[in-house]
Amino acid sequence: MKNVIEVNHPLSKNLVTRLRDINTKPYNFREFISEIARILLFEALKNEPLVEKEIDIWIGKDKFPVLQEEKYVFIPILRAGLPMLDGILKVMPEAVSGFLAIKRNEETLESVLYYDRVPQLDGKTAIILDPMVATGGSLDYAIKVVKEKNPEKIISLNIIGAPEGLRRVSQNHPDVTIYIAQIDEKLNDKGYIIPGLGDAGDRAYNT
Ligand code: PRP
Ligand code: URA
Repeated sequence: MKNVIEVNHPLSKNLVTRLRDINTKPYNFREFISEIARILLFEALKNEPLVEKEIDIWIGKDKFPVLQEEKYVFIPILRAGLPMLDGILKVMPEAVSGFLAIKRNEETLESVLYYDRVPQLDGKTAIILDPMVATGGSLDYAIKVVKEKNPEKIISLNIIGAPEGLRRVSQNHPDVTIYIAQIDEKLNDKGYIIPGLGDAGDRAYNT
């Protein structure tokens, strides 16, 4: 899985453990997801180009390096991807957002697309946000939808993944780089990640 990068920062490992803790309340759960998303983003964008921009500072005008934020389109998969977007837009307030609602059928584990509000992506870097990669069905589907919009590059930021799902997405989309905070042991027979954290959407929104 050459295109899957596990980000082994102690801060993100620490926050993943807090997410697993069933005593973590929804408000804190969303905050920790949002913080981990920022850590993943720092890693994913560490080699991105900067351009010079003239701005006004206290001693006059001068040129300084900036990231072309509007080139990046962040696409959370509803519901559980939403807190990731909140964290990221705090450090990239000029970035663009698009939305995909994908829900997996808990009986068949098939993913169903309910809502696609992703703009055309020509010349853009699309960054998909979803905390969980279990069977990989939802992420695989999201990448297919995003590819139809013709982005220049696709990155996926995820928090916990099962090897089975990551392998599937990695094989189907070798051109997409996946940054993940934690690769867990396996899936159980209901398609849940073990040890995982349970249902991320339910935990985040107290369902
Ligand atoms: C969760 C999670 C992923 C998906 C992962 O969403 O946020 O999108 O399951 O499972 P998969 O890899 O087997 O597809 P879910 O479908 O439960 O929707 P929700 O965020 O509304 O709870
Ligand atoms: N979705 C989740 O939120 N958690 C899992 O373990 C699997 C799918």
